[in-house]
Parts: sequence; structure tokens; C-alpha cells
Amino acid sequence: MTTPTPIRENDDIRAAVRARYAQIAAAFTPGAASGCCGAPDEAPAIAALYEVPDVATLPAEVTGLALGCGDPVALARLEPGQTVLDLGSGGGIDCFLAAKRVGPKGHVIGVDMTPQMLDKARAAAARLGATNVEFRLGEIEHLPVPDASVDVILSNCVINLSPDKPAVFREAFRVLKPGGRLSVSDILADRPLPDALRAQADAWASCVSGAIPVADYVAALEAAGFVDVRVERKSFDETPLPDMTECCGGEGATLPVFSARITARKPAW
Ligand SMILES: C[S@@+](CC[C@H](N)C(=O)[O-])C[C@H]1O[C@@H](n2cnc3c(N)ncnc32)[C@H](O)[C@@H]1O
Repeated sequence: MTTPTPIRENDDIRAAVRARYAQIAAAFTPGAASGCCGAPDEAPAIAALYEVPDVATLPAEVTGLALGCGDPVALARLEPGQTVLDLGSGGGIDCFLAAKRVGPKGHVIGVDMTPQMLDKARAAAARLGATNVEFRLGEIEHLPVPDASVDVILSNCVINLSPDKPAVFREAFRVLKPGGRLSVSDILADRPLPDALRAQADAWASCVSGAIPVADYVAALEAAGFVDVRVERKSFDETPLPDMTECCGGEGATLPVFSARITARKPAW
């Protein structure tokens, strides 16, 4: 068994997360199985994860690199002409689904801090001829997006990876237009995870040890200014997500972490 890499600072977390997703993107070949945060083989099938039927129309180079834990696009009820921002867009699956819904008068921006993921997403956009989608390099704690310019924010299994979730929610609030909405799938916890686990960079990068309790997540959203915050467990919360049974020295199967849908709104005034 390999010795877990310890975390000393937030930068250690970001480096471990970036390294994991750079490696996944670089090693990716279309047709290979993928899933929640990069767990191979056993991850929930894409059709089980996504409620929107048109996910089946996307090419394998996009669906094979889907690393989410839910379907924030179905949750978002997007409309033509909207501007949408995806936090941690990865290979771009939710951006491409959103792009179809907002249409030619709408615009979708994906932000990701891993250049190798952006390369994959941009190549897919070019091949799909998706002209209303762009991918920007950046951290979700420091969004490269102007104030009050976005109608809906999406995110799929990313915010748990951030070492500074209050900063993510402050930035999300800043870039949303008044009345704008947040529609997120993420990994949350029933109770605080053990410090020893939270200090493991690999478990953090696998979407496990960065999960925080529901009450803390809600409090951070409300502190940023969001209202109407709702958290709903996903249906497959009865059993641990497959990669969580594998990780963390076998401890993963008993961890109180689960996939959830989160919605919130920036007040209109
Ligand atoms: C689990 S994958 C999810 C990708 C995509 N949302 C999906 O559903 O397929 C996490 C992605 O978030 C990106 N990411 C993680 N932390 C980030 C941060 N602090 N800022 C920007 N991107 C981040 C990673 O580079 C990776 O592409």
C-alpha cells in the first residue's frame, strides 16, 4: 500500500487535484469507462447519472470523460438566450448539454484549472461545431468572469474539491445577475470527516475528504448572500459511490458521504 500524501496547505490540495485530473485527461481514450471523479469501471453508468435524454447524442470523447456525480443541467431548467457558467467544466459534458438548451442566442462558459482538461473540452467543441460554448482557464475561487453577467451557474462534482468553499460561493454570487440561479451536483457529508482523512491529498482529489456537512455547505452559501438554498440527496445515496468503497484504505465504504443536488438563488434586488 502506498503512503498517503499529507496536506499542509490549500495549495497542496489544488496541486493534488490538478495532478489527478491532468493525468485522467492525458490518459483518456474515447470508449473507456469513466465516472464520478475518475473512478474507473464501476462508476454509475452515464445513462443512470443523467436524466436528460440527449446525453446519448454526445460523442464518446465527451461522455467518456464525464466525471460528475449528478445531472445539474436537468435541475437547472435552462431557457434559450441564457448565459450559463459551469464551475470545473472538465471534458465539457454539462457545457455541451447546456449549449443545446440556451441555443445560438445563449452562451456557455466552462471554467477549469487543469489545462489538459481544457484541451479536451476545446477539441470536442471544435469537432461538435459548438460555437456558443467557450472554455476558460481559471480557478473557481477566482473566476475569470465579470460581475453580474451570468443567468445560471452549473457545477458537477467539483466544489467538494475546493479547499476554500466560501470563496467559491462568494465568486458565484458576484458573477450571477440579480435573480440568477445556482444548480449544482456535489458530494456532501452527514458529519465532519476525520482529520486524518481530510489531511490525505489523494482522498481529497478523489472527491471524498473535501466533502463537508450539509449544514456547513448551506451556511457558506447563505453567508455569500444566496437565498432559497435547497439540498436534496440523490437516489443512489443508499449505497456508497463505487470509488468510495475503493478508496481511503477501505474506509470509504463506511464514510457518511453522498451525492446531492443543491439549488440556490441570488436575490433579485
Ligand atoms: C470530478 S471532475 C468533474 C468535471 C466535470 N464537471 C464533469 O462533470 O465531468 C473535477 C474537475 O474540476 C476541476 N477543478 C477542481 N478544482 C478546481 C478549482 N478549484 N478551480 C477550477 N477547476 C477545478 C478539475 O480540473 C476537473 O476537471
